[in-house]
Amino acid sequence: MTCCGASACESQFDRKRAARELKDYRAHGPQPTGRALIQLLRRAGVDGSTLLDIGGGIGAIQYDLLESGAREVTAVDASSAYQRAARAEAERRGLSARIQFQLGDFVALAPQVAAADIVTLDRVVCCYADMEPLVRLSAERCRRLYGLSYPRYRWPVRAVVSTENAFRRLFRNPFRSFVHSPVVMDRLLTALGFTLQSKVRTFAWEVVVYVRDGAAATGGRPNLRPGSIDPELIVSG
Ligand SMILES: C[S@@+](CC[C@H](N)C(=O)[O-])C[C@H]1O[C@@H](n2cnc3c(N)ncnc32)[C@H](O)[C@@H]1O
Repeated sequence: MTCCGASACESQFDRKRAARELKDYRAHGPQPTGRALIQLLRRAGVDGSTLLDIGGGIGAIQYDLLESGAREVTAVDASSAYQRAARAEAERRGLSARIQFQLGDFVALAPQVAAADIVTLDRVVCCYADMEPLVRLSAERCRRLYGLSYPRYRWPVRAVVSTENAFRRLFRNPFRSFVHSPVVMDRLLTALGFTLQSKVRTFAWEVVVYVRDGAAATGGRPNLRPGSIDPELIVSG
């Protein structure tokens, strides 16, 4: 795994962190980026769709889209602890028969992963040094909507990420995070036949949904304005 080594993801996204995130999710719902992706995708229409959720962690997007009309999910994650937590939560919600779990680095597993109508990577590209194959291989498996969230490419965010990485280096933690250029990601997705449909921002994160050119729209209209998106997610500039 190019990001940091599969073991780095395993140690970063461990049992304790998974348990904490699951507890927080049960109490407060999805994190802001996940919440925004869910809203944008629901508005674009998820009824009857299949979802490929890459690096879905404890599975917030999966449960919500299944409960909103999506048909089935493939969940690929590099952390066994997160995947165990997601399996337990899916079971608890009676959704496990509709989720197929695959453990490992998506880039390595991609040839064995089926295409889906919707593909999501919520806070995942920032775990991966080599963004290009991760975005390209995942977009190639997307038939309609491609949802992505990543840290914003601005100096305060990059400074925080650099500082976190410096501490990780100091404490011999092999995990690293990355702030990739949204311009490069956009160019890549455009070249693969996608058009930006919607975008929202927090101070630190950008959440985008692309639609595959020529894919049938089943839901709301393409929208580059925040509209009914959670107001706390929207910042200007
Ligand atoms: C920061 S967590 C985000 C979890 C969830 N999407 C969220 O936003 O709450 C990153 C997740 O991506 C997974 N991940 C990172 N790189 C991956 C890869 N190349 N293939 C599959 N999963 C990956 C990690 O194991 C972890 O579960």
